[in-house]
Amino acid sequence: MGKDVIVACDFPSKEATLAFLDRFTGRKPFVKIGMELFYAEGPDIVREIKARGHRIFLDLKLHDIPNTVKSAMAVLSRLDVDICNVHAAGTTAMMKAALEGLTRPDGTRPLLIAVTQLTSTDQQAMESDLLIREPMGKVVMHYALTARNSGLDGVVCSPLEAEAVHRTCGKQFMTVTPGIRFADGELGDQKRVMTPAKAKEAGSDYIVVGRPITRSDDPESAYMRCVDEFIG
Ligand code: C5P
Repeated sequence: MGKDVIVACDFPSKEATLAFLDRFTGRKPFVKIGMELFYAEGPDIVREIKARGHRIFLDLKLHDIPNTVKSAMAVLSRLDVDICNVHAAGTTAMMKAALEGLTRPDGTRPLLIAVTQLTSTDQQAMESDLLIREPMGKVVMHYALTARNSGLDGVVCSPLEAEAVHRTCGKQFMTVTPGIRFADGELGDQKRVMTPAKAKEAGSDYIVVGRPITRSDDPESAYMRCVDEFIG
């Protein structure tokens, strides 16, 4: 598994996304497509970006009964995405069903990772809304371990948790980490952040970077700065 920078294409339309990707003249970035773009444009946006030579992390965070997730994953695997994801809260049965659905007749499949607790959920919300009374760190590690034991390839987590996830689940278990900012950049709504260089030290396998690249006057230079810091 190679280390790489994934660019979060949080755009509302195909036009805006392709105009952004057209600005990359060298390396073709690994792209994350989220709910907004996918729901606006449908599966064709995945096919189109894939045809342009990008790898794709389809960030739809599935969470439903196992049978429904299995069927949905079978559809996504035919789209030839490289990484997709589910909520670990869907349970072991759902994660195993997701893997089954993703696996193609020839035995190949996209990588599958799990969301542990969303970074927008804090300790208080977890206790009052979800009735989970354990400390957040313990909950995240438990969900990561459940994902690993279900056969998944990794988790989405904060770069601050990457080391602990590797310690708990093994070095091969992927950590895909958003919440990345340059040392001299704006935080936006992210609270717990790391620079690409620090995320590398912390052992992140993939960093997900949105606004520091998408809102930059020169996206390709901002992307290359991430690549230089993270991959070297
Ligand atoms: O613009 P920014 O770099 O903050 O974008 C980060 C991307 O990673 C966004 O697409 C956001 O939805 C996603 N993400 C996140 N935190 C999580 C999971 C996903 O920031 N825990």
